[in-house]
Amino acid sequence: MRVVDLIDKKKRGNSLSNEEIDYLLDNYLLGNISDYQMSAYLMAVYFKGMEADELSYFTLKMKDSGDTIAFTEIDRYLVDKHSTGGVGDKVTVILGPLLSALGMATTKLSGKGLGHTGGTIDKFESIKNFKFSNTREELVKIANSTGVGLMGYSDKIVPLDKKLYALRDVTATVDSIPLIASSIMSKKLAIQSDLIILDVKVGDGAFMKTIEDARKLSKTMVGIGNSLGRKTVAILTNMDEPLGTEVGNSNEIIEGIEALKGNWNDDVKEVVYNIAYIALKEKGQVTSFEEAENIIDEVVASGKALETFKNFLKESGADENIVNDYSLLPTPQNTISVYSEKEGYVSKIKAEDIGKSAMVIGAGRATKEDEIDHAVGLTLYKKVGDKISLGEKIAEIHYNDDKNIKSSKDLLLKSYIIENGNIEKKSNVLEIIY
Ligand code: URA
Repeated sequence: MRVVDLIDKKKRGNSLSNEEIDYLLDNYLLGNISDYQMSAYLMAVYFKGMEADELSYFTLKMKDSGDTIAFTEIDRYLVDKHSTGGVGDKVTVILGPLLSALGMATTKLSGKGLGHTGGTIDKFESIKNFKFSNTREELVKIANSTGVGLMGYSDKIVPLDKKLYALRDVTATVDSIPLIASSIMSKKLAIQSDLIILDVKVGDGAFMKTIEDARKLSKTMVGIGNSLGRKTVAILTNMDEPLGTEVGNSNEIIEGIEALKGNWNDDVKEVVYNIAYIALKEKGQVTSFEEAENIIDEVVASGKALETFKNFLKESGADENIVNDYSLLPTPQNTISVYSEKEGYVSKIKAEDIGKSAMVIGAGRATKEDEIDHAVGLTLYKKVGDKISLGEKIAEIHYNDDKNIKSSKDLLLKSYIIENGNIEKKSNVLEIIY
């Protein structure tokens, strides 16, 4: 077999056989195939795509390039909820304890934030002494005792993705639906779960800017998961404004704790309840959203969800008292308010600019090497659909270092699109794809 023939085959829009994919991926991982040939193949995939069977096999091969994790010791329904990345996305912080209180368990890998989007690891690392699981043994132990099993990505899991992603990054082949789908799904398949729920964010602040692209990616990922015997559901959610009111790290943890106490922001509640509903339905516990809503209301109102979160904190080495004393979290030294320079109704809050506004004051990373300031972030006082007067407070910026405060404020003001006339508020759950 010659690599040049495989590139040529893909360039002409033909499918590679399983043996050809084995040859290409095995030898690339071993270093026997050069980056320039692999780049040509990736570009051919970018333009010609992959057939469903070909993509499923490609994804399986990616998954098998490294360690896989099984949880034979855990006797609960295992859910892996994955977000494609958003701004203000604290869903995992809330959903983990909530699913556990509902009798299920979360088993998933979590990531760090990069660019304008945040990461679950960074949010939890706001909490003093909180320790993420690093090994399968730690993950099993914590998932068993708390029902919340979160682990950071390791180089040993799907090493081929790491190598291919780095190449895609410098060859303009990141935004290819089959390559994104196989990259995400290979990492999901490497960790055992009974159900994979993909929260595909759609809008200005998301990877997928349009509902059409989000639908295409979702159908591709659901197809891969289901064809490989793993029940997979995608939920398309709105990212035409950040989720909730807090954007940052420790302030997003506080918003998450408040939700577990029953003090929800509406959009966060809608997304979390719908994901929990999908889990309860696939587990076979409910048949309607209303039924799920009653059960979820009950575990929040009884305090069970909050207790589960406290237990998770304790088992992770942190002080459970933070749920009643937010001063135990990193606290910013300064806050400035930002006032509207227009009047009308908020029609959109460009999540990407909001993410950047938080990033420049230290809440996020511009490069992988940047250090995060967990104390800083934004609080949004106006959301889409809200009426706003000239000079009215839109948001607060919480900061420690005033170096980039002007650019943070400019980005924040630029992100708010204010129009005349009433704005119809969209549902935050756009579609569910089974
Ligand atoms: N996230 C991933 O894990 N991989 C991609 O290719 C894109 C987003």
